[in-house]
Amino acid sequence: MASKSAKYVLAFDTSNEVIALGVGSLCPSDKSIEVIYSSSTPALRQSNTQLIPQIDAVFADLGISREDIACVCVGRGPGSFTGVRIAMATAKGIASALDASLIGISTQNAIAQEVKAAGFTGRLLVASDAMRKEVYPAMFEISNAAAKRLTSDKVVKVAEFLEKQAPDNELLVTGDALLKYYDGLSNLGEVLSEDLWVPTGRGLLFELQSLWQNDEVDPFDTTANDPVGMLPIYTRLSDAEEAERRKLSAPGERNLVTGVQGNKATGVITEDMAPKGSYEQDAISYRPLDVKFVDDVAAMEASFLGSDAWSASMIKDDLGRPDRTWWMATLDGSLIGYAGARICDDATELLKIVVAPEFRRNGIANALLEKVAYDAFNLASEKMMLEVRASNEEAQAFYCNAGFKAVGDRPKYYSDGEDAKIFSISLPFGLVDEIGDVHESVLSKEALSIAHPLILAVESSCDETAAAIVDGNGRILSNVVSSQIDFHARFGGVVPEIASRKHVEAIVGVARLALEDASKHLSCDLDYSDLDAIGVTYAPGLVGALVVGVAFAKGAAWAANIPLIAVNHLEGHLYANRLVVSCDTNDACDFVESDTEVELPAIVSLVSGGNTMLVCMHDWHDYELLGETIDDAVGEAFDKVAKAMGFPYPGGPQISRLAKQGNPAAIDFPRALMHSGDYRFSLSGLKTAVISYIAKERESGNVLNLSDICASFQQAVIDVQIDKARTAILEVGAKTFCLGGGVAANEELRHAYEQMCESIGVKVIMPPIFACGDNAAMIALVALDRYNQGKFAPLDQDAFAHADLSEPY
Ligand code: KG4
Repeated sequence: MASKSAKYVLAFDTSNEVIALGVGSLCPSDKSIEVIYSSSTPALRQSNTQLIPQIDAVFADLGISREDIACVCVGRGPGSFTGVRIAMATAKGIASALDASLIGISTQNAIAQEVKAAGFTGRLLVASDAMRKEVYPAMFEISNAAAKRLTSDKVVKVAEFLEKQAPDNELLVTGDALLKYYDGLSNLGEVLSEDLWVPTGRGLLFELQSLWQNDEVDPFDTTANDPVGMLPIYTRLSDAEEAERRKLSAPGERNLVTGVQGNKATGVITEDMAPKGSYEQDAISYRPLDVKFVDDVAAMEASFLGSDAWSASMIKDDLGRPDRTWWMATLDGSLIGYAGARICDDATELLKIVVAPEFRRNGIANALLEKVAYDAFNLASEKMMLEVRASNEEAQAFYCNAGFKAVGDRPKYYSDGEDAKIFSISLPFGLVDEIGDVHESVLSKEALSIAHPLILAVESSCDETAAAIVDGNGRILSNVVSSQIDFHARFGGVVPEIASRKHVEAIVGVARLALEDASKHLSCDLDYSDLDAIGVTYAPGLVGALVVGVAFAKGAAWAANIPLIAVNHLEGHLYANRLVVSCDTNDACDFVESDTEVELPAIVSLVSGGNTMLVCMHDWHDYELLGETIDDAVGEAFDKVAKAMGFPYPGGPQISRLAKQGNPAAIDFPRALMHSGDYRFSLSGLKTAVISYIAKERESGNVLNLSDICASFQQAVIDVQIDKARTAILEVGAKTFCLGGGVAANEELRHAYEQMCESIGVKVIMPPIFACGDNAAMIALVALDRYNQGKFAPLDQDAFAHADLSEPY
């Protein structure tokens, strides 16, 4: 916790290929900041490893205690997405652990402040590299009094920018885009020296001071500057979203299966499954507006909007523009609502939100509004505005409810002479409370005495942001999982860039919830200062996603002055076998560490969306990889087969549900490498066989027997898994068999293992269903063991896409 007399600000930025670092002393009487340290050091791809060690060294040198940090100030970009996220996640960790304020500032404003501090005045162009032959150009007017920003955040093609920008001898030119486009940019004006191309600690601190003096922020206000709501400036959607927009605004066949579907697996797919008459919220699909629905939109416009209605050609024309975002809501493939907005520099104009009358008051308009607002925010808008007819009280009430404020009138705005009321809201909104679909363990009410060490564990390797707290007795005091599945579903798989963005949004809230839940359990008020260590998944997984958890955990561990513990995600899945549920439901449960001993050696099968392997466990922490898949993972095969049948991602659970009603012997799918005499697996042949079977049946006009296909596919998977596991158990002389990974939730697979193990007299231990998928409780258990062995991670701990379980770490 920050001390009562805390008065320092720690500022940093890693948006570019440098680490800018500053420490300042806050002087409330005149709102000034005394710069006591400033640096800017090259850190080519190294900011994740070097940021915290640098901060640590600076604080040691200055003799300042970390509890004296009242405010963390972070550069929000624009810049390298991963770079910005490293600073942001680290800052969130530090501010959370110290209960300090977190203030985000524009990296480009910080550069302009450094230019001003270096004594320059006049017009300044800061051109930052945006990759993909694009730049982020920002114009400033620098005077002795201020570095005034003239243009808002945007990203433009270099060639286009150079063409439009007239050369001007008086213009000062800086920014790291000069590294790539020196020739073109240097024609525009006078290029400043290279040390002014990137942010510095001093620049960050001066920008904060300027905001403070203009009463835009108060560095001591921890409520207004809660780290939970701070987000990077991206200015672009992810590549996957951009590609999707391009595809959807071009003509082609309607594709009704790829929307963001609710979690209800039956809420989609085939016409005969579609609900008739009534519907469930989960069955409504939200996705960017597809050009094939333009006539439907025009029809709704004509029905409900009278003289304000847009024609199909107006909508079509609008849809193809890069500065627009349009979303639609469909039910059973029919349009039931849509929303559109025009992104115009820092303000976005909401053009439409229309929901068919019979579907109103169901939260559909709100959901559409949130989708459009989220895009607008990611495309660098700071607020969203709209006009409503003065007489339309229902719409006005809706916007007020959503948090919009009436900010003025436009007399006689409409063609029939009616006035418009203008409403506005700051972006982002709706994000802070919404941290995905959260599962929390329901813990028993009884108060426990605190058994140290108390460890917070963080998991962010794929598409779940998770945090858990374990005590010294191996009791899981809280377990929070925020799933992003809904955001990835319409892409048919996890989109790494979206996963990373969502982790940054969720991580503070998820960790906070874990502390709150543990507090309830202990009947006390826990905060970071009560923790003894922070554990975090460092590998394997999506590296951009892992980086967020690792940077957050390092920031928090450094600020709380407690050790960091790095955990291998796969070892976590293995440790999930040590969790048992102390209540009788599987989806809301109270975990404790199991008393059942894993007798050694043990054979462990790890089967998830990313891994399929057989491991011999000689001891905890002593694993031997016997073999793994040479192509697809089991979960991946389930998901791809499910996709071919039209099920939304992730389709594994849906396949296992349908398989229950099917005949596993109906279709003879291949069992690859079943008799290969080793422990390699191959699933891509099986996947292709199922997909071709489906295509052939469709071609022949046969009605697909989905249940039989699912059951036969699943059986082919199970047969190979069981056969290889049995061989391994016998060869090694294993006493126990354990399972782990998302696919371990498959009931038929579990049942088959139970039968096989019983037949050869081997003990079988499997994780509770809820602990099969990614969660932080399993990471916490590994962290506890590592804590007890003194295996701590250094402050330069990095995240890695791959890590071999056989290698001790
Ligand atoms: O371990 P996990 O949560 O994370 C990743 O590795 O991404 O595993 C998720 C995988 C997905 O492929 C999902 O379809 C699969 O586990 N899965 C299942 C079942 N439940 C989840 N596969 C088959 N049957 C299930 N019941």
